[in-house]
Amino acid sequence: TYVVTEACVKCKYTDCVDVCPVDCFHEGPNFLVIDPEECIDCTLCVAECPVEAIYAEDDVPDDQQDFIALNAELAAQWKVIIERKDALPDADEWAKVKDKKHLLER
Ligand code: SF4
Ligand code: F3S
Repeated sequence: TYVVTEACVKCKYTDCVDVCPVDCFHEGPNFLVIDPEECIDCTLCVAECPVEAIYAEDDVPDDQQDFIALNAELAAQWKVIIERKDALPDADEWAKVKDKKHLLER
C-alpha cells in the first residue's frame, strides 16, 4: 500500500485524488490518508503530490513510520474524497515547514 506522510499536513493539495483509479483517498480537516485496504499500488499518486508526501509503505522514512498506522486508522473514520479541490489557504507556506505532525487535525 501507499502512505500519506507529514508533508501533506496543512497543505492538502489534492492532486493525488484525481489520479487514483480506486478512490482510496479519505479526507480530514487538514490532511488526506490512503485506505490500505483499497490501494492497489498503482504508484500514480506519488508523482502528483507537489510536496512528495506519498511513499510506498516499504519506503516510508524512519521518522514517518507512525503514519502507516495513522493512514489505516483515519481512513476508517474519514469520508472518501473523489475530486480534486483547492489546496488549503497558505498551503504554499506550510509546504516549507518540516515539523507539522502535531498540527494534524482529526
Ligand atoms: Fe490510489 Fe494508486 Fe496511489 Fe494507491 S498508489 S493511493 S491506488 S493512486
Ligand atoms: Fe496531500 Fe499531496 Fe495529496 S499534499 S492531498 S498527498 S497531493
